[in-house]
Amino acid sequence: MASIYVAALVENLLREHANPVLGLATGSTPLRLYRQLVEFHRQGLSFAHVTTVNLDEYVGLAAEDPHSYAAFMRRELFAQVDIPLGNIFLPNGMTQDLAGECARYDAILDCHPIDIQILGIGRNGHIGFNEPNDTLRGRTHVVDLAPNTLEANARYFDDTHPIPTQAITMGIESILRAREIVLMAFGRDKAQAVHRALSGEISTQNPASFLQMHPNTTFVLDEGAASSIGGIAAGKVSSV
Ligand code: GLP
Repeated sequence: MASIYVAALVENLLREHANPVLGLATGSTPLRLYRQLVEFHRQGLSFAHVTTVNLDEYVGLAAEDPHSYAAFMRRELFAQVDIPLGNIFLPNGMTQDLAGECARYDAILDCHPIDIQILGIGRNGHIGFNEPNDTLRGRTHVVDLAPNTLEANARYFDDTHPIPTQAITMGIESILRAREIVLMAFGRDKAQAVHRALSGEISTQNPASFLQMHPNTTFVLDEGAASSIGGIAAGKVSSV
C-alpha cells in the first residue's frame, strides 16, 4: 500500500508537469515503488519527459558494475520505462577527480530543480549517504561510510566484491531544496531512526532531523517503522 501511495504521487506529478524532475533513492525501501512505476508505465504512463537525479553512488564502482547504484537504477526502473538516457543523472563513482565530479553534479542539480525527492533512511538517521557527523555538508561531497552503514549494506556484496568505503552523495542543502520530499521507511528496525527524525533535536548527528525544517515533507511508513511515534500529533505522517 505504502509504495502504491507514493507511486500515485509520482504519477500525478508526471501527468501534471511537462518536464518533471524526480530525485531518486536506492536501497530495498523504494523497490516496490519502482515496480509500481514500471506497472504504471505498462498501463501507459510515459517517462519521456522525466529527468532523474539520484542521491548517491559508491566511489570506485563503475556504472556497469552490478553493485553500483547506476546498475541498481537501470535494473529496477530505467531499463523498464521510456526515460531517455540523457535525462538520467547519477554521480560518477569512477571519476579520477572527485572534487570536479562533485562540482559537476552540483551544476546538474542547479539546472534541474527537484520536484519530488524520494528518500529512505539509514538506521543511524542518514539520508542519501549524509552520515551522522560533527558537521554536515550542504552540497555534493565525498563521504566515508559509517561502520554501521557498511554493516547494513554488506548484504549486497561478497568476498570477491568488498563493499566500497566511500561514496559521493548529494548534500543536505540540495535535498532540502526539493519542492516536495517523501521519506519512506518500512520495518521495526527503522522505528527509532524515524522517531528521532520527526521529534529529535535538529542535529548533524541525526541528518534526517533536518527534514523538520522542510515545509513539504511526508513520511510514508508501515506499522513497524511507525511503532515509536505514538506521541506525535498531526503533521504529515502517513502510516499505510
Ligand atoms: C543506503 C542509501 C540510502 C538508503 C539507505 C537505507 O545506504 N544510500 O539512500 O535510504 O541505505 O537502505 P534500505 O532501504 O535498504 O534500508
